[in-house]
Amino acid sequence: MSERFSRRETMAAILALAAGGCSSSSSSSGGSVTPTPTPTPTPTPTPTPTPTPTPLSVAPVKANAAAKNMRFGSAVAWSNAGADAGSFANPSYAALLERDCQILVPENELKWQAIRPSATTFDFGRFDAMLAYAEGKGLAMRGHTLLWHQRRWMPAWAESHPYGAGTAEATRILTEHIQTVTRRYGTRIASYDVVNEAVDPGTGALYETALSTALGGAIPTLDLAFRTARAELPTTQLVYNDYMSWEGGGATHRAGVLALLQGFKARGVPVDALGIQSHIGIYSNTPVATLVANQGPDWRAFLDAVVALGYKLVITEMDVRDTGLPADIPSRDAALSDYARAYLDLMMGYPALRDVLFWGLCDKYSWLQGFEPRADGQPRRPCPYDSSFNPKPMQNAIAAAYAATTARP
Ligand code: G3I
Repeated sequence: MSERFSRRETMAAILALAAGGCSSSSSSSGGSVTPTPTPTPTPTPTPTPTPTPTPLSVAPVKANAAAKNMRFGSAVAWSNAGADAGSFANPSYAALLERDCQILVPENELKWQAIRPSATTFDFGRFDAMLAYAEGKGLAMRGHTLLWHQRRWMPAWAESHPYGAGTAEATRILTEHIQTVTRRYGTRIASYDVVNEAVDPGTGALYETALSTALGGAIPTLDLAFRTARAELPTTQLVYNDYMSWEGGGATHRAGVLALLQGFKARGVPVDALGIQSHIGIYSNTPVATLVANQGPDWRAFLDAVVALGYKLVITEMDVRDTGLPADIPSRDAALSDYARAYLDLMMGYPALRDVLFWGLCDKYSWLQGFEPRADGQPRRPCPYDSSFNPKPMQNAIAAAYAATTARP
């Protein structure tokens, strides 16, 4: 039955149409004019804002290390004031050093190539400035290195020097170098890499240089370096430093280093510790847990053998390559942090380890950016802080590793 609308209802409908609105009382049955409803525009969904990641807070690395009678440290470079560098002269970088570190190490400024321009001259200006900064901030300092036993890392003059017949001149050159450095700094340097990277990772054999050839071979050369350092420094930690690693393919390198350490002990050479550089990395898309499970046993066997010989351990140059990881930063940082934490947990399981130093705190200044760029051209993220000096998960992981380990006597 058609419904007749009252005069009142008719007027309401007319007014509603006139207003462009649709009368809610309109009926679809005959008799009434049913306006075509103006389609309600589908609201454009408000895009869910990508949640801004909560900036990480800085974790108390220094306090956590000190609580376990351990130390954390980093490499530091020299630069002119105001330079954009991983230097103590860069206030932003110095702030990281002073926040997290108890001990520093010069990235380049105590190497032969930096301090010994010729057989008869020394130049300590840059390292003097670095040591003064460290002492002014109450930071200890490592000495890297009294002898980097490879031709390419000796100054050119040392490869062409007239050593003559016999071993006298080579002995003089080496002992003069070590005596000059150790007498200049004495116990202001807490620990020395007396010898760096003398073992060929491909063969496990010792490298030779013009100096060692003139001195009767690598073994008498390395032994002389440690004995000369000990004669000057009765209580300073003397370290053999190398980059043998826990990643696959390191077996020959580890075997060569262990043989060298066994030889030092057999000959009574005063070597206190093995410096484990710890330039570790993720080179494939294998999950971190799988890498750790695969790499751990052989690495522990190596470390067990080293500490069984009576050596202490020092992590001297840690950073973490992200070669096998995707460009995505959050996932890359998470994997790097997990890998670093797993490595540090394993290493800190050895009470013989007290000092952990990174080879730089800030991605921007890492040696890896220039030395080994990523295939995709993305900057690497090997350090605890990003290129804007913000903490990354790795910085938090380092603090957590110290918190989790046992205190050293
Ligand atoms: O200071 C000179 C500068 O005057 C010159 O203009 C410039 C261009 O030739 O070179 C500068 O020296 C460079 C130096 O770093 C300082 O920046 C050298 O060429 C360069 O070879 C040197 O690279 C260093 C490398 O050791 C070799 O000494 C890296 O910064 C440093 O991170 C790296 O560190 C080594 C450790 O000592 C031992 N363990 C492995 C680690 C990484 O390779």
